[in-house]
Amino acid sequence: MEPIVLNYQVDGEDFSTAGEASSAVKKALKQLGFSPDVIRRVAIAMYEGEINMVIHADGGEATAEISQEEIRIILADRGPGIKDIDLAMQEGYSTAPEEVRNLGFGAGMGLPNIKKYSDELKIESTPGVGTTLRILIRT
Ligand SMILES: Nc1ncnc2c1ncn2[C@@H]1O[C@H](COP(=O)(O)OP(=O)(O)OP(=O)(O)O)[C@@H](O)[C@H]1O
Ligand SMILES: [Mg+2]
Repeated sequence: MEPIVLNYQVDGEDFSTAGEASSAVKKALKQLGFSPDVIRRVAIAMYEGEINMVIHADGGEATAEISQEEIRIILADRGPGIKDIDLAMQEGYSTAPEEVRNLGFGAGMGLPNIKKYSDELKIESTPGVGTTLRILIRT
């Protein structure tokens, strides 16, 4: 198959529409015939990264590059950035405010789960500038 690139703007304001980009990619992968395991890993990793952009960065841009061998997810935002990436990667670490926790987010499990379900995770972040996640999932 020819590589496919899907690109989405992720709105930072609305929790009710959060997750649209990852569900669109999930649907596309199903139609393309990828295995349930690959679809599940991409859907979880991309959803967690997408939600992080909504909660922590007022939205951003999500891109999925799909080929037969691998799926690359790029999540780029111009939010506050992550000061200490090693700390943010720890299970249970969260800076989510109370009102976000009341909606069921903020367990501090998003980044650890992205790491767990992907083959590669690269995080570039500069405080005051933004954050870019690059996630690779081999098929
Ligand atoms: N795109 C981002 N911009 C700024 N900070 C971020 C971003 N993504 C993650 N963080 C920081 O890293 C912390 C850990 O992220 P992680 O996704 O693991 O947990 P969480 O989003 O707080 O909770 P959960 O994902 O379990 O709902 C966040 O609380 C936040 O401080
Ligand atoms: Mg999260």
